[in-house]
Amino acid sequence: MSTLQNKRILLGVTGGIAAYKAAELVRRLREGGAEVRVAMTRAACEFITPMTMQALSGQAVHTSLLDPEAEAAMGHIELARWADAILVAPASADFIARLHAGMGDDLLTTLCLATRAPIYIAPAMNQAMWDSASTQANIAALQSRGIIAFGPGSGSQACGEIGPGRMLEPIDLATRLADTFSAGSLTGSTVVITAGPTREALDPVRYLSNHSSGKMGYALAEAAIAAGAKVILISGPCQLPAPEGAELLAVESAEQMLAASLAAAASADIFIAAAAVCDYRPLNISEQKIKKNGKDPLTLKLVANPDIIASVVAAQPNLFSVAFAAETEHVLDYARAKRQRKGVNCIIANDVSAAGIGFNSDDNAVTVIDESSELTLDKRSKSQLARALIDLLAEKSKNIKDQAL
Ligand code: PMT
Repeated sequence: MSTLQNKRILLGVTGGIAAYKAAELVRRLREGGAEVRVAMTRAACEFITPMTMQALSGQAVHTSLLDPEAEAAMGHIELARWADAILVAPASADFIARLHAGMGDDLLTTLCLATRAPIYIAPAMNQAMWDSASTQANIAALQSRGIIAFGPGSGSQACGEIGPGRMLEPIDLATRLADTFSAGSLTGSTVVITAGPTREALDPVRYLSNHSSGKMGYALAEAAIAAGAKVILISGPCQLPAPEGAELLAVESAEQMLAASLAAAASADIFIAAAAVCDYRPLNISEQKIKKNGKDPLTLKLVANPDIIASVVAAQPNLFSVAFAAETEHVLDYARAKRQRKGVNCIIANDVSAAGIGFNSDDNAVTVIDESSELTLDKRSKSQLARALIDLLAEKSKNIKDQAL
């Protein structure tokens, strides 16, 4: 956890039985070399005393927005500026709702509003509260703003129930926070990305293809490299420069893309299929240019191409697999069904009928769907979207790996 060395962590503690674990969390963060200051809500003080947190952090604890003494030493704006990161652990359902609403009626929500530092939350609550539509909607909205949730874990709860909602253990939280300061969330991972269209030859001069420019896949490759991953980019024909640092494998047809994908997937941790693969190819490729006779309609016989992402999932069931679903109607329903059919962990629903997003545009907007959640990322540049997607997919793949341990 050496990446916490000299990092300034503002630990927010809200009211919940897991607040007692915040004491150990302070110790873990300080063991990692972090300087820790603690802000507690009034409800948190009912579960654990500020004195305990002061003794462990070695700093005065902040409990009130309008405290003349605290404002004289380090006021809330300075505290918000001081932090390299804010971690709220435990984050209660009430706090999550108030953070989502942008409230600023107590110290902790005000600090979150005033900071430019990244905010991480460790949800902790009863499993039914976690599953409630309100909490899930609040979490999804916070994630779409770039706030990352660590956990929650699943298991037996203080209330006697069993299910998701347990705060992750302090050591896990400290490690995850440390990871955010390391070279990137994908350091040490290999990510394979397919991008662009495929071309299916008809004859020596003609082909079937589609409007994919490769912008989305290339932006994902750049974002994954920035997050520290080794990236293999398998690209159909595109007019884009190779992303610096990526291993670029240029292919033309779906069959070539399949062969390159299966080979690259063998050493991959994450596979993202952003390519627009032609579903069909001509049954026969004419050796010579097809001549027009000007009278009769030309009939082409097409055969189905192999499903690349489904083949990769079948060959490498342990890698974290992500497909896109380019749809023009019933976008979410079709995407959900496609996720099941292709057996991928996650599918990114892309409405390619909407103006200004999708094929060949500079912007995009998507909904990320996995087994238990759906998160809409509103319209933004493909680069910005790719960064948000990579953070999200890194977190999801890490959660799945952790669950498998
Ligand atoms: O390239 P851009 O101009 O930036 O546009 C981005 C994009 C719209 C191409 C991209 O965001 C996108 O939606 N990519 C998927 C396009 C597509 O072909 O979707 P699909 O719904 O037909 O396919 C579903 C998934 O299966 C995709 O992940 C696709 O890569 C994969 N697939 C499809 C067919 C096939 N034979 N093998 C596959 O692996």
